[in-house]
Amino acid sequence: MAITIVVGNFKGGVGKTKVSVMASWELAMARGKKVLLVDMDPQGNASTLIARSTGVTEINTSIFEGFQNGSLKECIVEVTDNLHMIPAQVSFKNFPKFLYANVKEEIDQVSYLKKLLDPIRDEYDYIFIDVPPTISDFSDNAMMAADYVLIILQAQELSLEGAETYIKYLQFMADNYDADIQVAGVLPVLLRPGGRVDMSTIERAKEMFGEDNVMESVIKHLERLKAWDVTGITDNDMHDRKAHQVFLDVIDELEEKLAQFEEAGKYE
Ligand SMILES: Nc1ncnc2c1ncn2[C@@H]1O[C@H](COP(=O)(O)OP(=O)(O)OP(=O)(O)O)[C@@H](O)[C@H]1O
Ligand SMILES: [Mg+2]
Repeated sequence: MAITIVVGNFKGGVGKTKVSVMASWELAMARGKKVLLVDMDPQGNASTLIARSTGVTEINTSIFEGFQNGSLKECIVEVTDNLHMIPAQVSFKNFPKFLYANVKEEIDQVSYLKKLLDPIRDEYDYIFIDVPPTISDFSDNAMMAADYVLIILQAQELSLEGAETYIKYLQFMADNYDADIQVAGVLPVLLRPGGRVDMSTIERAKEMFGEDNVMESVIKHLERLKAWDVTGITDNDMHDRKAHQVFLDVIDELEEKLAQFEEAGKYE
């Protein structure tokens, strides 16, 4: 049964998509796990990056088709044996309209993705969901479908904005819809070139999310990661290897944490 993870923060451009894609990529390519990456963002950035990285020139299916057909099976793109993706396209912006027109109960509206993922969960070790930075039907559905959230923390900012909002939202979803989602970790990300990890932010994050939840791995600012938006993910030289290593460290720490949570969960 797959462990389903959403990468969250309600701020734009903090690296959510990069982390979702690279965590999926490394788990599948370097660790031999079966991974499904679900693109829940009509911008389709994750889909584009995966397609560009694997020579897929045309994607002619979309998660929205699956939603309209009531099954996601037909819109899975098997990028490699281990890495599968459900892509998104701009038309997916009409998802809220579709939901309100076709699904009556509020609880069923927020649980639509969950319902459609359930029949395919057994086929994967991990399912990652990439979401837009808005509080919306997209993020609500991702939250209801996920077992864990990996929260992105902008480590060089003096505020926990985005990550803080996320915690309030988790509480709201738990109160209103019985969402059952656990924080897998809080991952510091540096987006400014030359930015340093702000230790006071890390300390505040530890107070807020719990000492053990703030991850030791840090996503540094690496120009190569930006370059991959254009070239696709490569593995040709030292800079590529350095960029891959950043995410290998993240997934190894994440897998360790998840194993502990899953073990503890068995005895609850
Ligand atoms: N560690 C990094 N080093 C350098 N550039 C990065 C890094 N992480 C992400 N970027 C770049 O920053 C930009 C935003 O990243 P990304 O698209 O992953 O953010 P996002 O949070 O998903 O954005 P959105 O809110 O629009 O969905 C992209 O151009 C990406 O290549
Ligand atoms: Mg994104």
